[in-house]
Amino acid sequence: MDKTFYITTPIYYVNDVPHIGHAYTTIVCDSLARFKRADGYDVFFLTGTDEHGQKVEKSAEERGEKPIDLANRVVNRFKELWEKLDVEYDRFIRTTEEAHKKSVEAIFNRVNDNGDIYLGAYEDWYCTPCEAFWTETQLIEGTCPDCGRATQKLSEPSYFFRMSKYGEHLLKHIEENPDFIQPVSRRNEVISFVREGLRDLSISRTTFNWGIPVPGDDTHVIYVWFDALTNYITGVGFPDEEGLFKKFWPADVHVVGKDILRFHTVYWPTFLMSAGIPLPKRVFAHGWWTVEGKKMSKSLGNVVDPGAMAEEYGIDQIRYFVMREVPFGLDGDFSREALVHRINSDLANDLGNLVSRVLSMVKKYRDGVVPKVSGFGDNPEDVELREALKVTLAETRKCVDDQAVHKALVTIWTFVRLVNKYVDTTGPWALAKDEDKADELDKVLYNMLEALRAIGLLVYPFMPGTGAEIWSRLGVEKPAAEGRFGDIEEWGGLRGGVETTRGEPLFPRIEAK
Ligand code: ME8
Ligand code: MG
Repeated sequence: MDKTFYITTPIYYVNDVPHIGHAYTTIVCDSLARFKRADGYDVFFLTGTDEHGQKVEKSAEERGEKPIDLANRVVNRFKELWEKLDVEYDRFIRTTEEAHKKSVEAIFNRVNDNGDIYLGAYEDWYCTPCEAFWTETQLIEGTCPDCGRATQKLSEPSYFFRMSKYGEHLLKHIEENPDFIQPVSRRNEVISFVREGLRDLSISRTTFNWGIPVPGDDTHVIYVWFDALTNYITGVGFPDEEGLFKKFWPADVHVVGKDILRFHTVYWPTFLMSAGIPLPKRVFAHGWWTVEGKKMSKSLGNVVDPGAMAEEYGIDQIRYFVMREVPFGLDGDFSREALVHRINSDLANDLGNLVSRVLSMVKKYRDGVVPKVSGFGDNPEDVELREALKVTLAETRKCVDDQAVHKALVTIWTFVRLVNKYVDTTGPWALAKDEDKADELDKVLYNMLEALRAIGLLVYPFMPGTGAEIWSRLGVEKPAAEGRFGDIEEWGGLRGGVETTRGEPLFPRIEAK
């Protein structure tokens, strides 16, 4: 098959427990992956954990355990959370895997063979929490310009990558490929940064052990970002360049938070250029979540646990909220008030209510059985409904290709509201009073159910439980997970004579406290 789609999340550090920020990126990637799969693509969705580095070594030491034991524990928490949130990845990569070590060694050797690694002395300021190096001039009053915490001056032997050599080439690539860095504001940031000139990059450390040794010099371990970024090719089998790698690389999109934009749009592409490996097609950097207006932090005690939220409000409610609330790429604020508002308006009022009123009418007027019809009607509202579905599908596809998940949902909800309007306009309760209008009633009920079938599949990628439930209530034989957009492209795929199920409200209203 030639239609492939490869999408990645960042690999998360194991020295932190998963929170709503990690869940956000991962839920979006899961939704995009599911959407492309439903659109007939052969999809590979990679997520995982970044387990090496000084921070993990230190945290483990403080707890009196081995770094790998700490990692194993936190990895389980990530995996449990993804399962809880209906995230379905194709591979979960851990940087402590043997396969990854081989991959990092292979890319290191290639870069080295290309003459781009040399041994030097490293003198700079290091921020341990950010795993980032800064020059004297980048510091803000001696502290890390990203997190504001104290930095340490380091001087030690280190291997360097000749990143300076690739500045021009990188600029040219960014300029020739306008979609390479998205959104455009981020692209501009990177362009200004690269224009100032790239410095060579220290890519090894001698001050800790928890990492992959430099090939041929095990007094050094490879700098975490060189190690971590390589996960994206390990994930598809590198250094084996047949099989998955051949099929899926270059990745279609690396989705990351804006905090790690530079690593993905400057370091990673220049490593790849040096190694002679094609660059990913796109890096999309999304915005930052605050919680009730404040920066999320352990010390403030306001870290949002997405698993607990899903238990309290529902999985799809959380998935919908994070994707719909904030235009993808911008910063957002997580608040219970906003969450409850979305649940009550978009989910309970619009979608939940539509499903329940349609199925209730089918129950009441047709014993819950999908009417058999000979045509779908030519009244303006019938035609409008069918046309609207075509437009909805086309626009949603476009939004997904732009990673505009919020817009994809807005587009689908415009259709949901139109179907609600169709119910109001056609008025089945009036038709039901007139024996002569039995065919007309069959037709409008059928159209409503058929619209629901389309909605079930359209929402499935974003809200898998809801999509699956709608299909099951409609008596669709195929599980929604196997549904393809080809199945809803032609109006009338819903089988007549099949029994539907009314069921409980999909999204119970939440009373404001
Ligand atoms: O940076 N809002 O891992 P990490 C939105 N291991 N997104 C957030 C967020 C917030 N408040 N907090 C976290 C690392 N994220 C490296 C990555 S990749 C080769 C190596 C999300 O555990 C967002 O995707 O600090 C961000 O980029 C990522 O978690 C950082 O995760
Ligand atoms: Mg971080």
